[in-house]
Amino acid sequence: MASKIKVKAKKIIIAIDGPAGAGKSTVAKLLAKRMRFLYIDTGAMYRALTLKAIRQGLDFAQGRQLTGLAKKTRIDLENKSDGAIRVLLDGEDVSLDIRKPNISSFVSDTAKVPGVRKEMLIRQRELGSKASCVLDGRDIGTAVFPNADKKFFLDADFKERVRRRHKELKENGQDISWEDVRKDLQNRDTIDSSRKCAPLKQAKDAIYIDTTKMTIEGTVDILYKWINP
Ligand code: CDP
Repeated sequence: MASKIKVKAKKIIIAIDGPAGAGKSTVAKLLAKRMRFLYIDTGAMYRALTLKAIRQGLDFAQGRQLTGLAKKTRIDLENKSDGAIRVLLDGEDVSLDIRKPNISSFVSDTAKVPGVRKEMLIRQRELGSKASCVLDGRDIGTAVFPNADKKFFLDADFKERVRRRHKELKENGQDISWEDVRKDLQNRDTIDSSRKCAPLKQAKDAIYIDTTKMTIEGTVDILYKWINP
């Protein structure tokens, strides 16, 4: 009698890191859709926690308070069938609120706290262990999944990154000046790259892609070809 052997399909992890406005999340979302993988927006987790900290009036200089808050906060990321994602903070849909400029102003202060990062890393690894997925963030290839199957570092000229983020915010109805977007990106680039714990940096084995002159579709195609040569 033939015996059935169950072979578990290997879960694949694709890590996409880089600074704000380099196209990471749009590219990661489309790539995940094309690969039929789960998309995990790790920045959304830091943003959701920042929203809760602002609502509770926490002092962003108090890392211990932020760590305590992280431990007792539930954050869920849902992939919807139309490709969009929903971010739930203790069960409340905060998908739009977390993109607002006041969250961007404080999110890097939340994300630089080692205790907060430790908590998020555990959760991100847990999410990534459930299915093949594309994760985007700042430290996916260096800290969260150092053994990811493919790692990419997306970058673009600073001016172009500001232009893209300004356009995106305007399209989403946010009233924000080019100058304020420039300051936000510069501030976050500085904090994210200089923090002690898991700073934004390219993993040694990541493929560097400068998207300055590239379209979203063109970028997704390139990543797809690296993954499926
Ligand atoms: O979309 P955008 O590039 O503006 O940022 P995001 O991916 O939503 O991340 C927001 C912030 O969260 C970043 O500026 C980092 O401070 C932090 N972050 C992080 O430290 N590590 C990650 N893996 C993802 C985000």
